[in-house]
Amino acid sequence: MEETCYKNSQRKGSAMNGVTVIDHPLVQHKLTIMRRKETSTGSFRRLLREISTLLCYEVTRDLELTMATIETPMQTMESPILEGKKLVFVSILRAGNGLLEGMLELVPSARVSHIGMYRDHDTLQPVEYYFKAPEALDERLMIVVDPMLATGNSSIAAIHKLKERGATNIRFLCLLAAPEGIKNFQEAHPDVKIYTASIDSHLNEKGYIMPGLGDAGDRMYGTK
Ligand code: URA
Repeated sequence: MEETCYKNSQRKGSAMNGVTVIDHPLVQHKLTIMRRKETSTGSFRRLLREISTLLCYEVTRDLELTMATIETPMQTMESPILEGKKLVFVSILRAGNGLLEGMLELVPSARVSHIGMYRDHDTLQPVEYYFKAPEALDERLMIVVDPMLATGNSSIAAIHKLKERGATNIRFLCLLAAPEGIKNFQEAHPDVKIYTASIDSHLNEKGYIMPGLGDAGDRMYGTK
């Protein structure tokens, strides 16, 4: 049997051109199981929750800290805590919720914004049906999550909306990205860094990521 090596070009949490590929072995292993067509809905959902904690760890790795004076049972000390207003995790519905759960386990105090977007199957254009966000977006780091960066249309529209509401410090986290989606996204939002577990080969004629993992929403909720 022919063995395919995991490409070095995909490796390393390298921030090449604003895209960080999170190559942690646990992330890559879990992603492979998620991609398999025989993986059940229950396993897919569990793996997505697990992988999202690992992705969250990487996307937050350079957050600013400040020193706080605290009392341990032994003495007073200066100890680091996160600086600034609470983070906001922004879930692009519905598939974004699959990433949200694990991220909230890691950062339970984060605020949550939901943006309802569906992709019109004919035009592939996003249609917004819901928006809710906390106050003071200009003072917060927003981490927008959607498992699949395919055409990029939904995430581009969601981030336009956040910017309209004042957000200036935004990151985008996905599980898989297509090169076409990255290009579109970066043309629209060159200031927003992308974090992903993989850059796949291409989009097919229906706008699905290849080889991808299929429809993320259907796979996590068993709707197909
Ligand atoms: N959305 C998905 O769920 N899967 C794709 O491959 C593309 C967009």
